[in-house]
Amino acid sequence: MLITKAPKGTEDLLPQNSYRWQFIERNFREVCDNFGYSEIRVPTFEHTELFERGVGDTTDVVQKQMYTFLDKGGRSVTLRPEGTASVARSFLQNGLFSMPLPMKTYYDVACFRYENKQKGRLREFHQLGVEVFGAKGPSIDAEVISLALAFLKNVGLSDLTVHINSIGCPSCRKKYNEILKDYFRPKLDQLCSTCQDRFERNPLRILDCKSEVCRELGKDAPVLLDYICEDCRAHFEELKATLRTIGIQFEIDPGIVRGLDYYTKTVFEIISGPFTICGGGRYDGLIEEFGGDPTPGIGFALGIERLLIRLDETGVVIPKENGLDLYVAPLGGRAAQYVQKLVFDLRNSGVKTETDHMKRGLKPQMKYADKLHCKYSVVIGDNEIDTGIVQLKNMQTGAQQEVAIDAISEFIKGEK
Ligand code: HAM
Repeated sequence: MLITKAPKGTEDLLPQNSYRWQFIERNFREVCDNFGYSEIRVPTFEHTELFERGVGDTTDVVQKQMYTFLDKGGRSVTLRPEGTASVARSFLQNGLFSMPLPMKTYYDVACFRYENKQKGRLREFHQLGVEVFGAKGPSIDAEVISLALAFLKNVGLSDLTVHINSIGCPSCRKKYNEILKDYFRPKLDQLCSTCQDRFERNPLRILDCKSEVCRELGKDAPVLLDYICEDCRAHFEELKATLRTIGIQFEIDPGIVRGLDYYTKTVFEIISGPFTICGGGRYDGLIEEFGGDPTPGIGFALGIERLLIRLDETGVVIPKENGLDLYVAPLGGRAAQYVQKLVFDLRNSGVKTETDHMKRGLKPQMKYADKLHCKYSVVIGDNEIDTGIVQLKNMQTGAQQEVAIDAISEFIKGEK
């Protein structure tokens, strides 16, 4: 009996599926590289206050979903629910603001949120994301959106729409908050208890509450886009114009408020089927919130699990890596030792080689080589060792070819 299963909302990535993830991750790295972004790696856990301050203590993520615990030193730490806060902390802590700006970074991270498991919603999930610091004009907003799209197109996802919105800056938000409070005030006692608390502290968060009642009560609420200031509107107009110039189709979706507090001005989501697979936006106040000088920022993150579901659902076949080149079957006690060295040398020379570790007979070894989809196989016994000549068998055609042991590597590499 298995002593325990993996925790709810987590998934194993099995060896037979890892090529799918590697394809996605490799593609993302390539696209980021083409766009001039460099990888950043940040810790899996942070001091809890980083997310409370960054993501916001009235958000669902902070109030309901964080994996927070005291470490053995009595400090409150949290498994990261998202990447932006950590990357922004790292930007400040490591003085990256003194490097040439904009600082363009990307990451590939596991994230943790205590959520109810459903299709495309996990407790441990994986995000690919980018964060850019130091550029305030809308051209970088357009670049970030176009990077996400270039990547999604590269991996084969065609069924998607880009939704954009502007949620303004703190000054337009202040005005809007009062308008929103006027709207919700008569409905206050019908809101869930979390939203009753949000009413004073951060009424915008009521609009992304997951409770059915709050959703229904908020459906006719005034939209922020109608109240943004001149500067925010000009930014939004220029973003739209730039996206049109690049040739990116988009929809304006005033309903996007995003579930995290740090956003300002541009917010966007890329939707495919039932999923928001990518979400992002500008966060011009975050670095200041963390104690730095005012520094604009923008980024996005997309969920690898959701992307893979959508690729499957839309019939995209992820190419499998080429299999092994060669199976070397030892025959007899002397060969068993000899083959160890031969296989080691072949692997070092760049030939993907497998051999026997189960003391199988010749027939089961060949069956095994077949299951591994090896392109060639070779049997090595006393005779082959003495003469230095082997019969290299093409596993697909069955054709045999005489080759010197010393020339196996060269032959196979020539065939690749
Ligand atoms: P987010 O919208 O919370 O944004 O998450 C981004 C993406 O992560 C989602 O669109 C989804 O694909 C995936 N995701 C989120 N939660 C789950 C879950 N429970 N299970 C599976 N996938 C999930 C952020 O995290 C921001 N940090 C994005 C950002 C970067 N904004 C600016 N820079």
